[in-house]
Amino acid sequence: MQKIAVMTSGGDAPGMNAAVRAVTRTAIYHGVEVVGIRRGFTGLMSGEFVDMTLGSVADTIQRGGTILYTARCEPFKTPEGQQQGFQVLQEAGIDGLVVVGGDGSFRGAQALSKLGVKTIGLPGTIDNDIACCDATIGFDTAVNTAIEAIDKIRDTATSHERTYVVEVMGRNAGDIALHVGLAGGAESILVPERPFSMDDVIRKLERGVARGKKHSIILVAEGAGRGMDIGKYLAEHTGFEVRVTVLGHIQRGGAPSAKDRVLASQLGAYAVELLLNGESGKMATIYQGALTSVDFDTVFSTKREPDMSLYDLAETLAI
Ligand code: F6P
Repeated sequence: MQKIAVMTSGGDAPGMNAAVRAVTRTAIYHGVEVVGIRRGFTGLMSGEFVDMTLGSVADTIQRGGTILYTARCEPFKTPEGQQQGFQVLQEAGIDGLVVVGGDGSFRGAQALSKLGVKTIGLPGTIDNDIACCDATIGFDTAVNTAIEAIDKIRDTATSHERTYVVEVMGRNAGDIALHVGLAGGAESILVPERPFSMDDVIRKLERGVARGKKHSIILVAEGAGRGMDIGKYLAEHTGFEVRVTVLGHIQRGGAPSAKDRVLASQLGAYAVELLLNGESGKMATIYQGALTSVDFDTVFSTKREPDMSLYDLAETLAI
């Protein structure tokens, strides 16, 4: 393998730069040329390459966002778009590609692999919604960012004796809500993976008040419902003073946690080793505690769920 490319794709996630750095430096260490592709598959289709050197990734391990920029690319979901991307790679003499992104990005990576470019995916998304993966790059930082916000919300919730509904990201997955809800001491956690009733949420709020609680936090995963709707319902059906906070894209920014930097560094270096060993069509991952690789097909067909024991534990502790 003479020349590889690296790109970040889909929603950005803290730790993507650490992954790009690890890919770049490991490749150079092995004498392989590296180029970065800007703006994910959109940039691939238009050939937005940038030469990567040891220096181009200096001072990036601690930076949030992605120095390569990122995009969600609809045209690359079509066979024509994929063929165009393949040709661009061929013309640039690129034999291997590392894609850092989520499930959608892996589908693009798999298409390129089937067309003949050796391709490895790295799980990079705050949502933690990828199967066969203990944690995605960016998840830990997003949870820590959200917890910091919840702690601040708790201060004002206590002062005003209010009920707060806090909506977190996660797309269709409840992982962020579960971890933040448990770590933030929420009264109720609403996630798409577990049906809930508003009567039950209200019952828990009233139970808290009955034992002298002056404030409450309800954590809502965006996939379970809109914080605004839930807040409105609670205000209309209880006598409590309710406020709603939607944390939004703040959860995607900021310096990656040490855990995300370590994970991204391990996976980035391993992705290059997989390519050098002739592997393709796989995700590099830490799964059940082991550094390993899993076929994209297996990743796509494996049903995943967050650790629902956290949900049960949070319920017990919120009694
Ligand atoms: O996948 C990451 C994520 O932040 C999701 O949690 C959220 O649903 C989505 O991206 C938001 O996308 P956008 O940045 O395009 O609004």
